[in-house]
Amino acid sequence: MTYLQPEHQDNNTCQEHKKVIMNKNVKIFREKGYVLIKNFIPKETSKYLFEYIRFTSHAMFLSGEKNSRGDEQVPGSFGVRHGDMAFDSLMRMMKPKMEECTGLELYPTYTYARLYQPGNELKKHTDRPSCEVSITLKLSDTGKYNWPIWMVDTPYELEDGDGVIYRGCDLEHWRDVCGGPPEYRLGQVFMHYVDKNGPYPEYRYDKRYALSKLFEDNL
Ligand SMILES: [Fe+2]
Repeated sequence: MTYLQPEHQDNNTCQEHKKVIMNKNVKIFREKGYVLIKNFIPKETSKYLFEYIRFTSHAMFLSGEKNSRGDEQVPGSFGVRHGDMAFDSLMRMMKPKMEECTGLELYPTYTYARLYQPGNELKKHTDRPSCEVSITLKLSDTGKYNWPIWMVDTPYELEDGDGVIYRGCDLEHWRDVCGGPPEYRLGQVFMHYVDKNGPYPEYRYDKRYALSKLFEDNL
């Protein structure tokens, strides 16, 4: 099938084009358990969130806060945080798009974020039940380097705003030792969900049930 360029489409064709792409993503996700989504969020948004994670990581580092120099999984990374409200609100906002890309009805569980630097390594692993359907989303980076994330047998060099959606409990994923230049920093956020009709719905909100109103209602 030949895809028309968006600028040459009328509104109906544009909707049709989006539907074709969406169905293609669902098909790949069902077959492989992971799928690359280009421009999952707009580049302007991802660049802003990169500045946010750099700025707040620096603040955490200067104040000597716990996790300002990494966690057990990636010692030496910066500004590790679970449940940052900026990323939790992104997780809630992007739930419909996650559902479009996977063909599943989802509950959000939690977010995690890191600022990586050269020498960091994310060892091959699978994740806990709260990560049944996850996205690893590239915010942005510095320096002339692109550090790939591996999914099973496929390395992805993501651009700003790109993400890979994957079945985190089932599929091995990792990053080899980061070999970028000294000034290289990579901001990455992980947003996790569970399938409403799958084996882990009780892990919604990462079992922080007190947060259900926050995720389900609006002021
Ligand atoms: Fe993981």
